[in-house]
Amino acid sequence: MSISIKTPEEIEKMRAAGKLAADVLEMIGPYIKAGVTTAEIDKICHDYIVDHGAVPAPLNYHGFPKSVCTSLNHVVCHGIPNEKALKEGDIMNLDVTVKLDGYHGDTSKMFVVGKPSILAERLIRVTQECLYMAIKMVKPGMRTGDFAAVIQKHAEQHGYSVVREYCGHGIGAIFHEEPQILHYGTAGTGDLLQPGMCFTIEPMINAGKRHTKLMRDGWTVLTKDRSLSAQWEHTLLVTEDGVEVLTLRSDEDLPRVIRHTS
Ligand code: MF3
Ligand code: CO
Ligand code: CO
Repeated sequence: MSISIKTPEEIEKMRAAGKLAADVLEMIGPYIKAGVTTAEIDKICHDYIVDHGAVPAPLNYHGFPKSVCTSLNHVVCHGIPNEKALKEGDIMNLDVTVKLDGYHGDTSKMFVVGKPSILAERLIRVTQECLYMAIKMVKPGMRTGDFAAVIQKHAEQHGYSVVREYCGHGIGAIFHEEPQILHYGTAGTGDLLQPGMCFTIEPMINAGKRHTKLMRDGWTVLTKDRSLSAQWEHTLLVTEDGVEVLTLRSDEDLPRVIRHTS
């Protein structure tokens, strides 16, 4: 298989799916507080997605048991919602993927319960900066390694590390398709971007070392050293002269469409 180039009709469906995934993250905000369980958050997201005519793509995906991923504190990604309640000071990545009219929208953001520590706040901010710096570079003719190197440099400049075992991905009618999007590496390497490609960028940045450990449940990924981890994710479309952020939320200070004209 090679990297798919979306037709105008497919792009419209990717826009609709991206918008719904972003809406889920906007809708859930007021529910994120101490005392709420991640299973309750999962149920609210599940119902919202189904009520809007879509399917939560994680549910039963390779056996994943829930509809969203909730990754708290030292969980890197793929946390399974459960009956444990959120508590003051927790940080949580909520990762939502919807399949609407046959096409996927995949996005995640960090939530903080009450007041985060200075360290947590800084990790969350720098991780979002990594994502935004990468998005702002995306245009036809560049390579995935060009923004991967920028992500790695920004994270490491702050004393953080980039998780290597998990990466971003092409997306469309298939949840995870080509290309693989690494968040570390070397400029000038990787796949060449072309108009009509859709992929995610979703850096996982650890406050400590980069290494991860898979829990016995087969899903939950932890930092090996138990340091905090943060992640943000957007689904993107490569346009003729830049990028469109298909999962943009209203709380973000980022243009939906970025054009690089000279
Ligand atoms: N949404 C995740 C991603 O960004 C994948 C979750 S797959 C699951 O690619 F099975 F863990 F839900
Ligand atoms: Co993804
Ligand atoms: Co995701």
